Amino acid sequence: MKHALAALCSVLLIGSPSLPAHASMNLALDKGCLTCHGNPPRGRAPTIPDLAREYAKFRGQETEILRLSAHLREHHLFGGVPAHERLSAEEAEHFVRWLVDGGR
Ligand code: HEC
Repeated sequence: MKHALAALCSVLLIGSPSLPAHASMNLALDKGCLTCHGNPPRGRAPTIPDLAREYAKFRGQETEILRLSAHLREHHLFGGVPAHERLSAEEAEHFVRWLVDGGR
């Protein structure tokens, strides 16, 4: 984790072209996901590694991946997470696949 953070920081600070492996963590930063899912997490939000552990069981299960993506951006009248609801279908699917693949 420390290692991943150092790599992330160097990408951000030096502004070197981000490697594909960093793309999703950067996108998660961009979209504000880490405000709640970072370390320490905010409120009842699970951390990215927590989510990745939970989603690992859906690897290779296309139907489940699409169901989770749709579920993530569903609108709620009360208690919804605006950052989730603002995601486009493509972004939600991208994040879910990223988590299913380990969230790194
Ligand atoms: C304002 C805080 C907040 C932000 C910002 C946020 N989340 Fe969440 N997220 C939560 C909370 C709280 C939960 C657990 C409760 C729930 O599912 O509503 C959660 C749950 C999740 C889950 C699990 C959903 C499930 O039911 O399996 C995923 C995946 C997720 N977030 C992804 C993201 C992504 C990707 C972003 C950035 C686009 C993001 N979150 C931004 C607070 C946040």
